[in-house]
Amino acid sequence: ASAPIGITDLAFATAHFSLDLQQLADHFGIDVNKYYVGIGQSEMSVATADEDIVTMGAEAAAQILARHGSDGIRTLLFATESGIDQSKSAGVFVHGLLGMGPNCRVVELKQACYSATAALQFALGVVARDSREKVLVIASDVARYALDSSGEPTQGAAAVAFLVTADPALVEIEPITGLHTDDIHDFWRPNYLSTALVDGKYSLGAYLRSLEGAWGEFRSRGGVDIDQIDRFCYHQPFTKMAVKAHNRLCTITGSDLDADQRRAQIDASLAMNRHTGNSYTASIYVGLISLLERDEADLAGKRIGFFSYGSGSVSELFTGIVQPGYRALLRDADDRQRLAGRTPIDYARYRALHENVDAVQGEDYETAVETPGPFRFAGVVEHARQYQRC
Ligand code: CAA
Repeated sequence: ASAPIGITDLAFATAHFSLDLQQLADHFGIDVNKYYVGIGQSEMSVATADEDIVTMGAEAAAQILARHGSDGIRTLLFATESGIDQSKSAGVFVHGLLGMGPNCRVVELKQACYSATAALQFALGVVARDSREKVLVIASDVARYALDSSGEPTQGAAAVAFLVTADPALVEIEPITGLHTDDIHDFWRPNYLSTALVDGKYSLGAYLRSLEGAWGEFRSRGGVDIDQIDRFCYHQPFTKMAVKAHNRLCTITGSDLDADQRRAQIDASLAMNRHTGNSYTASIYVGLISLLERDEADLAGKRIGFFSYGSGSVSELFTGIVQPGYRALLRDADDRQRLAGRTPIDYARYRALHENVDAVQGEDYETAVETPGPFRFAGVVEHARQYQRC
C-alpha cells in the first residue's frame, strides 16, 4: 500500500480586534440571545485597517515554518474568497513576507468557502505523485456583509495554515470522498462589491441539501457508515449551522445516538468559531484545530468526518484519522491567547472600520499602525499593496 498522506501541522491566526455581538444586538435593539443562542455566536474577529487575508495568512504560516522550515516546500496554495487582487495570488505576498525560496509554485484557489478543501485535495495529489513533496496550504478570509443586513452578525475573520506530507503527524486523510456541485445563487460577491450578497434562508437549505448529496456519493463509493465516524467537523458560517447539519446527517442515516451523544461529536469543534465568527475557507479547519485542542478525550486513532461547503455551490465530504502523539503538536495556549488577547472594540469603531474599506477603494494611501500582529498591511502605492514584517 502507498504511504499515508495528510496533515502534519496545522496553525491558527485571527484578526486583532473583536466585537461582542451584544454591541450589535444593542444597535438593532434586539435580544442578544438571537446571536448567543439562536445562531450560536458570541463574538466576531474584526480586522484592523492594517490587517487583511495576507497578514493573517502569514501569521498562521509563520508558525508552521518556525517548526519545519521552508526547505522542500515547493507548493504554496492560498484559499480565499476575499481576495485582494484579481491577478496576483495572495500567496505570493506571503511567500515574500516569509522569505521562502524561489523554487516554489504559488497559486490562489477560489470557490467560496470550499476552496481550502480543494487545496487539500490538490496537495494530497502532489504528495501522492512524489512522496518527498511538502505542500503548504493557507486559508484566510475576512467575512463581510453589508452594514445593517441580516448577514452582519455572521461576519468574522481568521486564517489557518497546514502542511500536507506523506506519513502525516496530525491527521491522515482517507482517500474516499463524496462530492456535490449545484449551480445556484445562495451567496456570492460580484466583482464591484466589497460585501457578500446572500439569500440567507435559501443558503441554509442549500447547505443541508449538499450535505445529503455529498454523503450519498461518499457512501456509494465505499465510504464508511456513520457509526464508524467518531467526531465531525463541518463548515461553520455560524456554529448553529454545524448543529443543524449534524442533526440532519444523523436523521438521514438513521443514527441511534441521542441528542447529547450527537452534540458530543461536534461540541469541541465549535468552540473557536464561536469567537472568531465566519472565516469562510478557514472555518472548517479552525473547527479541526478547535476539536483537537478542546476535546478532552484522547482522539488518537479516532476517525473524523469532514463536510466542506462553499456556496454557489460545491461541497465535499471526507474522513481522516487522528494520529498518535497529536497532542504534542498542538498550540493550545497560544491559540487561546490569540482569542483572549484581541482588543474589544465598540459598535462605533467597528462601523467606522467597516465603512473605511469602501472609502479607500482605488486610492493610494498609508495605514496607521494598529495591529499588534507580526505582519501588517502598510497601504497602497501606485495601486500595489505594501506589506511589512513588524
Ligand atoms: N433567543 C434564542 N433564539 C433566537 C432568538 C432569541 N431571542 N431570536 C431568534 N432566535 C433564533 C431563531 O429561532 C433562529 O433559530 P433556528 O434557525 O434554529 O430556528 C435563529 O435564532 C436565527 O434567527 P432568524 O432565522 O430569524 O435570523 P435571520 O433571519 O435574521 O438571519 C441568517 C439568520 C439567515 C443565518 C443570517 O444571519 C444570514 O443570512 N447569514 C449569512 C448566510 C449564512 O451564513 N448562511 C449559511 C449557509 S451558506 C454557507 O455556509 C456559506 C457561508 O459561509 C456564507
